[in-house]
Amino acid sequence: MNGKTLVISGGTRGIGRAIVDQFAENGVNIAFTYNSNEEESKKICAEIEAKYRVKIKAYKLDILEPESYKAVYEEIDKDFDRVDFFISNAIISGRSVVGGFAPFMRLKPKGLNNIYTATVLAFVVGAQEAAKRMEKVGGGSIVALSSTGNLVHTDNYSGHGSSKASLETMVRYAATELAPKNIRVNALSGGPIETDALRAFPNFEELKAEVIKRTPLGRMGQAEDMAPIALFLCKKDSYWINGQTIIADGGSSFT
Ligand SMILES: NC(=O)c1ccc[n+]([C@@H]2O[C@H](COP(=O)([O-])OP(=O)(O)OC[C@H]3O[C@@H](n4cnc5c(N)ncnc54)[C@H](OP(=O)(O)O)[C@@H]3O)[C@@H](O)[C@H]2O)c1
Repeated sequence: MNGKTLVISGGTRGIGRAIVDQFAENGVNIAFTYNSNEEESKKICAEIEAKYRVKIKAYKLDILEPESYKAVYEEIDKDFDRVDFFISNAIISGRSVVGGFAPFMRLKPKGLNNIYTATVLAFVVGAQEAAKRMEKVGGGSIVALSSTGNLVHTDNYSGHGSSKASLETMVRYAATELAPKNIRVNALSGGPIETDALRAFPNFEELKAEVIKRTPLGRMGQAEDMAPIALFLCKKDSYWINGQTIIADGGSSFT
């Protein structure tokens, strides 16, 4: 992994932040994106550089404008000479999900459309741009963060859940079509993980208690539970895994 480059969307917080740490610890250079937290991004760059001696740079990206990925990759090209891994991780929340994060009868096309754009369309453009660069270095690995909310009913989650289902299908198509270029594509699907995205749920404390009760391993998932699996999916050790959704949920999707 030493000297390779990871591009990851949403590296400032939650699962993305844990993945940045995990890859840097393994000698991988990192280009990550942020949306609102520019100051935090600068701090992360300084911290990671000092701790792991890898190259790390932050770029502003809005996944509600998927085409803007192209300009971000052009910037990345100026700073890094290769792209080996791409992790589509960022997720929208707050005002942009109004009408999309809601019970079924209160869903509105605009909110739903935003979630689909940020989840599926951003993955497509981000992965296309990554694949063009991976081809030049003989291959690579792409991972899309998904969620078990497309398998297990979760309150207000139909917009996200249905978009993640679509994302997983897109992953299988991409995996099939990019395999001849030695580029693997997989989805990493988490059960509920304790991050800002979940803390924003109006009934978070109630939800957390229910998740713990329903999880055979007896606690709530943390970002650090996901990061080593993302790393594994980019390593040669997982080479024969392609076009799959790997579920990491402490066993909760069966109970
Ligand atoms: N949390 C869970 O329970 C859970 C479970 C399974 C799967 N997942 C998936 O894992 C991924 C990460 O989730 P998380 O819980 O770690 O999220 P999070 O803590 O809410 O972090 C979201 C990240 O996305 C960035 N972001 C927000 N709005 C954006 C926009 N418009 N354009 C570009 N970037 C934007 C944020 O950047 P700023 O800090 O700059 O705003 C931040 O880095 C998502 O795909 C999510 O669906 C989460």
